[in-house]
Amino acid sequence: MQAMVPTARSESATAAGSVKLKAEDVRVFYGEKEALHGVSMDIVSNEVIAFIGPSGCGKSTFLRCFNRMNDTVASARVTGRITLDGRDIHDPNLDVVLLRAQVGMVFQKPNPFPKSIFENVAYGPRLHGLASNRSDMEQIVESSLRKAGLWDEVKDRLDAPGTGLSGGQQQRLCIARAIAVSPDVILMDEPCSALDPIATGIIEDLITELKRNYTIVIVTHNMQQAGRVADRTAFFHLGNLVEIGATSQIFMNPRERRTEDYVTGRYG
Ligand SMILES: Nc1ncnc2c1ncn2[C@@H]1O[C@H](COP(=O)(O)OP(=O)(O)OP(=O)(O)O)[C@@H](O)[C@H]1O
Ligand SMILES: [Mg+2]
Repeated sequence: MQAMVPTARSESATAAGSVKLKAEDVRVFYGEKEALHGVSMDIVSNEVIAFIGPSGCGKSTFLRCFNRMNDTVASARVTGRITLDGRDIHDPNLDVVLLRAQVGMVFQKPNPFPKSIFENVAYGPRLHGLASNRSDMEQIVESSLRKAGLWDEVKDRLDAPGTGLSGGQQQRLCIARAIAVSPDVILMDEPCSALDPIATGIIEDLITELKRNYTIVIVTHNMQQAGRVADRTAFFHLGNLVEIGATSQIFMNPRERRTEDYVTGRYG
């Protein structure tokens, strides 16, 4: 489809995947203040795309648009169009609870529910009626924990509280919780910023593994992390998408001066 709005300097989605998420002229206002100034981009199936840029440039604001998490912010108003598999996510007939299952989210600070490890993972499938009996549920919980790379560490203590795990384990539990409802997309907002380098390495390996089955959008302040995990990188500045391209191009051969200044550490 022909884009109906001017796009930021952008590179069309790679030919390899089909368009999973499409944002067209997305603006976000907090009260009167426009925090995101008309961002357009395509995100393709099974890619890992990183959002980078200085603090306050709108990365989290834009990320939250994809599963309508800004609906939960009283002062926020979103305009423009976002589609998931071609379907408008602002369609009044769309079930937001289902959207958030299809487009799951992992936050900066691991936030397991105050429940057992098992119940943390079982919560979503139960809400959506994905298991018809206990053994179905056990299977979903086990396979989600396996995909999140946590099964071997917790299989003997599934009844223990999720909050009793280490930070890195809690973050993988939150990833298992997102996976348990069979999402297409996982949004991650600085998922490693509270973790040590070893736990970070485990999550990064996991992201690379997960992209076989999911589309992953990750916000990070860590350039090396973007370099390690992301196929493409988008650089934001002051509420604008400045540049988007293959991660190697953004870091090694940026087209825009502002991108170059940021990736070389001149500001930010
Ligand atoms: N709930 C809110 N109410 C009012 N303004 C907000 C709210 N959330 C974000 N903003 C403003 O919107 C702009 C973008 O914020 P956002 O949190 O998206 O930035 P960010 O790029 O994720 O920054 P960081 O790297 O620090 O997480 C900022 O000016 C911020 O102050
Ligand atoms: Mg943020």
